[in-house]
Amino acid sequence: MKFRVYDTAAEAARAAASIVAAQLKRKPTSVFGLPTGRTSLAIYDELATLHADGAANFSSARTFNIDEFVGHSAKDRHSFFAFMDTHLFRRINLPAAHIHFLKGDARDLDAECERFEREIADAGGIDLLLLGIGGNGHIGFNEPSKTVHVRTHRARLMLETRRANVALFGGRLAAVPREALTMGVGTILDARAIVLVATGRAKSRAVDSMSTGRISALKPASFLQLHDNVEVILDLAAADKLPKRRLDVLANGHPH
Ligand code: GLP
Repeated sequence: MKFRVYDTAAEAARAAASIVAAQLKRKPTSVFGLPTGRTSLAIYDELATLHADGAANFSSARTFNIDEFVGHSAKDRHSFFAFMDTHLFRRINLPAAHIHFLKGDARDLDAECERFEREIADAGGIDLLLLGIGGNGHIGFNEPSKTVHVRTHRARLMLETRRANVALFGGRLAAVPREALTMGVGTILDARAIVLVATGRAKSRAVDSMSTGRISALKPASFLQLHDNVEVILDLAAADKLPKRRLDVLANGHPH
């Protein structure tokens, strides 16, 4: 894990977006894994700006979103698809046929998860996966539990995760789905490169517990320590709980 700490959330988002733009330059046909959530908003704004400036051409890229709520179709305004469409897809030149999403309203959800895994494999695997982290250490919708799911699966959401998503549902907790489809921890770890972005003090504990050198299914993000190409991009607030010594070791000479 390589850590980069920036003074502000805006700078962290800019850094993440520039990694995506560099990946596109290096390999225009790159396959990206993409998150939803508040943290991703600033990154998608930056990507839209880079695209408008001619610095990010998505015409040959492919994307796979990490998760989707069960019961929600792409047309549903509360779906993660709608979130992505509003905040990224309609602002860039990614062809609709290159967008891959889990269908939360599929009749056979297990078959849907298998189809999604096959699509990732058929695309040649994910080159760069952008990732957020839940305050409880979840990645995608892989919640703290006794065990982790390796592959894409149907997941039950914890109350705190439903609360964290309540803004998407007009503040009505009862409207937030209790289940989602999500890439598994193995699906995530199969990506050739992972960039995790966390900003704000509410993430500082989760950031600390994913980098202690120990792995626990109770902290799903801790599995990222097994991957040899993970960049963790933080603002100062999210880095707040990291012991200075660990940060120095992990930062590889970055100014902070
Ligand atoms: C959500 C999503 C994750 C996201 C995380 C953080 O529930 N399923 O993919 O990374 O929680 O969200 P936020 O950036 O809003 O804190």
